[in-house]
Amino acid sequence: MSRLMLGVAALSLSLALPAYSQQKPDPNLDKFPAGPEKAIIAEACTACHSLARVAFGSYDAAGWHNAVAMMMNAGAALTPDQVEPVTNYLIKSFPEKPLPPFKQVDGPVKVTIKEWVLPTAGTRPHDPLAAPDGTLWYSGHMGSLIGHLDPKTGKIDEYRTKTPASGPHGLTMDRDGNIWYTGNFKGYIGKLDTKTHQFTEYKTGAARDPHTPLFDKNGILWFTSQNSNMVGRLDPKTGAVKLAVSPTADSAPYGMVFDSKGKLWFSEWQAPKLASVNADSMEITEVVLPNAETRPRRIAIDANDVIWISDYSRGYLGMYDTKTGKTKEWPSPGGPRSQPYGITVLNGIVWYDEGNTKPNGLVRFDPKTEKFQTFPVPSGGGTIRNMMPTADKSSLALAMSGVNRVGIATINN
Ligand code: HEC
Repeated sequence: MSRLMLGVAALSLSLALPAYSQQKPDPNLDKFPAGPEKAIIAEACTACHSLARVAFGSYDAAGWHNAVAMMMNAGAALTPDQVEPVTNYLIKSFPEKPLPPFKQVDGPVKVTIKEWVLPTAGTRPHDPLAAPDGTLWYSGHMGSLIGHLDPKTGKIDEYRTKTPASGPHGLTMDRDGNIWYTGNFKGYIGKLDTKTHQFTEYKTGAARDPHTPLFDKNGILWFTSQNSNMVGRLDPKTGAVKLAVSPTADSAPYGMVFDSKGKLWFSEWQAPKLASVNADSMEITEVVLPNAETRPRRIAIDANDVIWISDYSRGYLGMYDTKTGKTKEWPSPGGPRSQPYGITVLNGIVWYDEGNTKPNGLVRFDPKTEKFQTFPVPSGGGTIRNMMPTADKSSLALAMSGVNRVGIATINN
């Protein structure tokens, strides 16, 4: 199983490359049943990635509608009258494969998950950002927009990036309340001035697919760059960018956190490793996690400087104590194929998403008792790629990437 998963991961790695060099005809074409749509797909769906992405796709009808809407946003060349027949052909030809079921685990807290459907179909809300004023910002990865929800009124505003199909991936806020995001498909860090709604772009050079952004105490914006295998820093005052290459080839630098001393840590999601970065020299020091099959996708850090790890490939929750070097891990309730993904810590409790169970499970883990509790995501979730606590520490902001929703999970202890 883990081999299959790594194959899928490797597949997705080729995606952000500017031009997909194709074998024509695509070797996956024989998996497509005969029909007029086959030729349309062979033409319109091979410009950016192989047809493996389509043939191995596993979606229900709503999921295929969302996937095609995402591709239209990305720039797929289907004419308006082709969208419906192609979508129906995909629904019929590639029905959803059985996913691991959500695993109910009872426990001490109550959670209410409220979700909002986004105005643009196929937005692919990637990361949420809970602002100090109680509103929720999100990055629209395929919609190429930054969205803003007022949970009190349900009003959603959308701000489209200056450069189309930028693939806004992660986002963060500066001290003045402006939004900074990674232009994942176009090799830049963007700033949305939240007063004027003007965008500014800062090129990231050899780091062509900036991924997760985070400000340090001095106002320097740090970022990972997955396919470029780098970590970088941008000085917003000058636009100067410095880059460092990960010591492990193709390690896919991914999630990022600062510890209480201001040291930057990131996960290498195509290697069983975490790494820390010296802020001055940008020297990278790696930590090898105990299981060679571990693939740490996102990370979160608690008040004791313990890093919590969503081990996507094995279906584990892991921990690494940055002070003692101690590691420990627990099988996630949804099992080896549950694909733990978005993760955060709130009031000493670890929360994360199982992104491959149907529906997705929001998982609570109490490090004191080492007990899990799980909550089904009402819409299914369609993979919650990131989450973060709200400023008042009562709730979690969620982005439900595959069902075009954002949400807030309110925790009643
Ligand atoms: C303009 C470029 C482009 C074209 C053309 C394109 N895609 Fe994609 N597709 C992408 C990108 C980029 C991603 C990956 C997003 C990611 O995972 O970062 C993707 C991912 C996918 C996925 C996986 C989605 C997911 O949520 O992981 C499916 C399914 C897919 N494409 C189907 C199609 C189909 C069907 C067509 C033809 C109608 C098509 N694509 C044409 C750019 C494109």
